[in-house]
Amino acid sequence: MEASYPGVRISPMGEEHLDGVVELQKLVFPPPFSDELHWDVEYLQIHLDVFPEGQWVALDGNSVIGSCSNCRTSEERWKSHRNWWEAVDGPSIQGFDPNGSTLYGMDIGVHPKYRQQGIGRLFYERRFLYVEEQAMTRFGTACRIPDYSHHRGLSLEAYVEGVVEERLTDRTLTPLLRYGLTCLGVKRDYLPDPESDDAAAGLEWLNPFDVKVLGQ
Ligand SMILES: CC(C)(COP(=O)(O)OP(=O)(O)OC[C@H]1O[C@@H](n2cnc3c(N)ncnc32)[C@H](O)[C@@H]1OP(=O)(O)O)[C@@H](O)C(=O)NCCC(=O)NCCS
Repeated sequence: MEASYPGVRISPMGEEHLDGVVELQKLVFPPPFSDELHWDVEYLQIHLDVFPEGQWVALDGNSVIGSCSNCRTSEERWKSHRNWWEAVDGPSIQGFDPNGSTLYGMDIGVHPKYRQQGIGRLFYERRFLYVEEQAMTRFGTACRIPDYSHHRGLSLEAYVEGVVEERLTDRTLTPLLRYGLTCLGVKRDYLPDPESDDAAAGLEWLNPFDVKVLGQ
């Protein structure tokens, strides 16, 4: 699996990448997004200790130009969670369930200079492959909607519907929909995010080979 950007490859995240991931967070989630929500080395190390096979980076040579953090979470937690914290039980991912049905996408980011070259799509292919290989039910996440900041006259629901129907474009939700995720609606008070009015769009991708789905 090759990125269309020359020389870029997706690789398992290792301890040697953590400083690069922390640096990248500042570029990927600039103000007004709070830097208190950026991963630090301590949290990233916990993710590697708890769920090493769910953490990836994109590398150009030895430089980290993308990162992708995930947690495995139970069906019950996925269905009942109201915000990102509850989805994984906080940044130390104490809600990690080794048999969980859902691969929960905590974070994805591509260096601004490398965007729109298919690198985000490569991360998503990894995520979907993991779900299929582990015979899980779904990939699930909730996505920022930062360009809602330009459409405050609309309700959150009308804005998200407009992006889903491609009448509007959102710099984050639009790419994620292009990867084949289905929108489950607006989740209010999902995480502190002024541009998105603290809301997110719930998204899922169902494993087409899952016996429960095939049996329906
Ligand atoms: C969201 C993000 C990861 C996408 O990564 P990327 O590598 O630039 O995306 P891709 O090149 O894989 O693009 C996938 C599709 O989305 C489209 N797309 C990408 N960015 C877009 C934008 N700003 N506006 C409209 N469409 C866009 C691409 O044209 C492509 O469309 P296609 O499949 O029809 O060819 C990247 O923009 C990013 O790091 N954003 C900041 C961090 C962030 O918000 N992360 C998500 C947190 S929920």
